[in-house]
Amino acid sequence: MTKRTILLLAGDGIGPETVEEVKKIIAWMNEALGAGFELDEGLVGGAAYDAHGAAISEEDMAKAMAADAVLFGAVGGPKWDDVPYEARPEAGLLRLRKDMELFANLRPAICYPALAASSSLKQEVVEGLDILIVRELTGGVYFGEPKEVIDLGNGQKRAIDTQIYDTFEIERISSVAFELARTRSNKVCSMEKRNVMKSGVLWNEVVSQTHAADYQDVELTHMLADAGGMQLVRWPKQFDVIVTDNLFGDMLSDVAAMLTGSLGMLPSASLGAHDPKTGKRKAMYEPVHGSAPDIAGTGAANPIAMIASFAMCLRYSFNMTKEADMIEAAIAAALDSGLRTDDIMAEDCVRVSTIEMGDAILAELGKSAA
Ligand code: IPM
Ligand code: MG
Repeated sequence: MTKRTILLLAGDGIGPETVEEVKKIIAWMNEALGAGFELDEGLVGGAAYDAHGAAISEEDMAKAMAADAVLFGAVGGPKWDDVPYEARPEAGLLRLRKDMELFANLRPAICYPALAASSSLKQEVVEGLDILIVRELTGGVYFGEPKEVIDLGNGQKRAIDTQIYDTFEIERISSVAFELARTRSNKVCSMEKRNVMKSGVLWNEVVSQTHAADYQDVELTHMLADAGGMQLVRWPKQFDVIVTDNLFGDMLSDVAAMLTGSLGMLPSASLGAHDPKTGKRKAMYEPVHGSAPDIAGTGAANPIAMIASFAMCLRYSFNMTKEADMIEAAIAAALDSGLRTDDIMAEDCVRVSTIEMGDAILAELGKSAA
């Protein structure tokens, strides 16, 4: 039996309760399909800070580096508002991304038919929406140096963040976007601010060069990132794949997430490069939503983004396309049957808890495997 290792880093807030629902699915896959998943667990974020005084321990970092895939819940909460900046919960997530070199963040925004009415936009604008944001994840202003607050000594301070992109970083993320576009509707829109930022000028140039060199069959357009944000809420279906930098990708993917009805629906994959020897790539899968401390422990959390993140894990880390399709179909079926967590509750639907939603998806899986 193939051995497949997964590290679970559930984190804080609603992280653990949503990861719990994925564990049930993994257990079922091992039992019913002989999938051979081996799970290990670690701490990240505030949970790691409470245990080790750091946002992730060296030991858990090493486990993440060694696993075939990492499933990440969420980090942060008011409890850790005052911890030192270096140890803040988000630092654990950023370290994982950086040390594992997960430069490609895939954030699909798909509007399930059953949820088209719960978007804040008109139904016809979002119905059938299927776009993919490819966000650069290990560069830009998130990691650029210098990054500091300087005391100017005259009662003033100066804060500096640095936006840096090298050619190779733009090349590799745009190649990922073009490759993925070929498996979809073959369109890429690149977003930057070349009218204001030097990094935008280079971004635009390198994306165009990469396109001209290897991907002329893909339709490429460029948009200024602010206009892109506007177009995303005006008529999102004009897009197929959007490729953009770390900071714009952070913002635009939250906007795209909300088009689909709820932040609780959206999964993501963060991928490294393929190892030329083994063909394997490091990868981490996480919902786009955060730790939602206000609802943690109330049973109101929506486990779908976490479960859909596991489906992406099957697709991108284990090449288990059929099983990934099964999980996505089970999510759609549970929604079609009228079950809704709090965040997507609508008229004539049945409000269910995190656990009940997880159980319903599991039951649909069982039916499809029977
Ligand atoms: C995201 C989050 C993170 C980010 C935070 C938690 C550091 O907003 O994954 O989109 O800014 O990248
Ligand atoms: Mg974000």
